[in-house]
Amino acid sequence: PLQPVLLSGGSGTRLWPLSREAYPKQFLPLVGEDTMLQATWLRVASLAGAPPIVVANESHRFLVAEQLRLIGAPVPRILLEPTGRNTAPAIAVAAMQALAEGNDPLLLVLPSDHVVADVDAFHAAIADARAAAEGGALVTFGIVPTIPETGFGYIEADGAGAGVRAVMRFVEKPDLATAERYLASGGYYWNSGMFLFRASRVLAELQRFRPDIVDACRKAFDDAKRDGDFVRLDPAAFTACPSDSIDYAVMERTDAAMVLPVDIGWNDVGSWSALWDVTTRDAQGNAHHGDVIAVDSRNSYAYARRLVALVGVDDLVVVETNDAVLVARKDRVQQVKDVVAQLKASQ
Ligand code: GDD
Ligand code: MG
Repeated sequence: PLQPVLLSGGSGTRLWPLSREAYPKQFLPLVGEDTMLQATWLRVASLAGAPPIVVANESHRFLVAEQLRLIGAPVPRILLEPTGRNTAPAIAVAAMQALAEGNDPLLLVLPSDHVVADVDAFHAAIADARAAAEGGALVTFGIVPTIPETGFGYIEADGAGAGVRAVMRFVEKPDLATAERYLASGGYYWNSGMFLFRASRVLAELQRFRPDIVDACRKAFDDAKRDGDFVRLDPAAFTACPSDSIDYAVMERTDAAMVLPVDIGWNDVGSWSALWDVTTRDAQGNAHHGDVIAVDSRNSYAYARRLVALVGVDDLVVVETNDAVLVARKDRVQQVKDVVAQLKASQ
């Protein structure tokens, strides 16, 4: 059976002022009618052998439960973290939950804030990855890189061609010079952040490289308080867990990694310019959400709660919310994180 795991712990600050710690992007309908969390589940519901295991922050428990209930998704177990410890602990407790139910399913780990435009191709990819995962591989889905993005993991595949291949090298978030080298040399893929592996396998690899994380998670899981659909991980034990991503903790080090190159219209919507990329645009290249009038303007993105008008501007991002307005050059939107940092520092 296939057991989807929805990771919903991120805070998505690069989409400020829309995405906030209290209301991060996975809970917003950024693309289409459904929120990103809802869309993530709807994309895989037909393949799933069981309801999703969701791992989320305690403070978002009602958002998660309500959004999934609204689309008719049963969520009998929502694992709640008192505080985020990144993806390695989140995946560890999800694997423990699956194993505690008496199965050792294939976990399909999915970030809850990505876009996958070609769902049929995505389903075909999952089918293609299955045999390798059943055989004990930790399978990643590789995206053909287009720019030397430094916020992604890079995977060097063994040999060329289609199908699941061994991973020669996995490098999480290389520096720019390295990313440029990988792009120029070819044969590298971006790690999409989605994984397929057996619950017992990922736990065994984590045990091998980070026994400290497994120990802390084991304690947090064993002492968890079950409260209806919520599984409250023991706060003291989980908070004591070291923070690390699955990419650094396992994927960079394991010999069991494999990659399946995919072409599925993937986008992690990591910035306002990425959102412009995945949103339908008019003939002038403008994309918008809400009430927007564009006059003599090109390649801009506007998000509006009230009416927003653009006049004679190119390559601009304008985001208007109840309590904040962002105006940025589209090629500078990565620096929104500096705004968030300044805000935090002044609080
Ligand atoms: N439950 C839980 N708890 N979820 C978390 C936590 C946490 O502490 N931290 C992150 N997540 C969720 C996020 O919400 C997101 O859906 C997913 O896990 C990945 O975390 P990110 O913080 O977005 O990771 P990243 O973007 O820096 O890097 C990862 O994704 C890239 C592709 O988008 C890595 O896997 C890279 O290798 C990859 O290229
Ligand atoms: Mg991300």
